[in-house]
Amino acid sequence: MALIRLALVAVLLGLLALPQGAAAQQPERVLNLYTGRHYDTDQRLYDLYSAFTGVKIYVIQGDADQLIQRMVSEGRNSPADVLITVDAGRLWRAEQLGLCQPVVSDYLASRIPDHLRHPDGYWYGFTKRARVIVYAKDRVSPSELSTYEDLADPKWRGRLLVRSSSNVYNLSLTGSLIAAHGEPFVEEWARGIARNLARTPQGGDTDQLLAVAAGQGDVAISNTYYVARLLASSNPEDRAVAEKLGVFFPNQNDRGTHVNISGGCVASNAPHRAEAIEFLEFLASDGAQAIFALGNHEYPVVAGQALSPIIEQWGPFREDTISAAVFGANNPRALLLMNRAGWR
Ligand SMILES: [Fe+2]
Repeated sequence: MALIRLALVAVLLGLLALPQGAAAQQPERVLNLYTGRHYDTDQRLYDLYSAFTGVKIYVIQGDADQLIQRMVSEGRNSPADVLITVDAGRLWRAEQLGLCQPVVSDYLASRIPDHLRHPDGYWYGFTKRARVIVYAKDRVSPSELSTYEDLADPKWRGRLLVRSSSNVYNLSLTGSLIAAHGEPFVEEWARGIARNLARTPQGGDTDQLLAVAAGQGDVAISNTYYVARLLASSNPEDRAVAEKLGVFFPNQNDRGTHVNISGGCVASNAPHRAEAIEFLEFLASDGAQAIFALGNHEYPVVAGQALSPIIEQWGPFREDTISAAVFGANNPRALLLMNRAGWR
């Protein structure tokens, strides 16, 4: 950027003659992407975007909390143009820290439902991730399952597997329950969850699925794409694990299954703002939505898009349409409450 500016100043001062055909020699357009996503298929997104726009993407991949901290330390000099996270809680945190700028885009507004984006355009969701109950098909009948609330019932004592309370997926799920029921009810619920655990929380969602298949517990809470990934694996052992598991969409008779988002924002000090907005719009395009869906088995946010065949077989479900801004904002309260309740 500095070099380009220097060259412009030099041209204005008449120190450099504007070369013939200068209009054809556009400076290289670039985009600096900070992303908490860690999926191999995302490279296809970057390649497609670059092929369409000629913009070169520089990717910095890492834990979203660390990326957010890095942007805070970099301050006004941050090279970040776009921040992508895998959950609403961290988008909310980034926005609260002043790291995101509002984007007004008729295209994004028309493609992405209201509840999956910030009301003032500070961030947008690009995929949905349903957080469901996964059960051991040989020990649990779907007729025994109903809601997240029911998982706190004593009938699940010693049978439930879920990762730690500090995990953002659980914070957002609990944040959605707080919005539905208020804190006192949810604290009691979290106490029931903690009591019902088959073991001290450890590992990620996939580890809970493996534990159900291994008989360490009978039901787990997991995002659907982890199950889909096992089913689609080239490793027969993964597929054997997945065959033992059933997927149940909770709360179908009331507010619907909790759905988190993977989404992004344009950084407040983005050096390449135009490219950043263009990139967000690209992520909402049919092509990008298909890569998200088919590559990582996530649900597209845009209505009417193709699903991965594995996701498709689970059928449509009612989703909780509470705003991601609301359960994202509830994340800190959720963590305090879950810790008080003994969910580690
Ligand atoms: Fe994940």
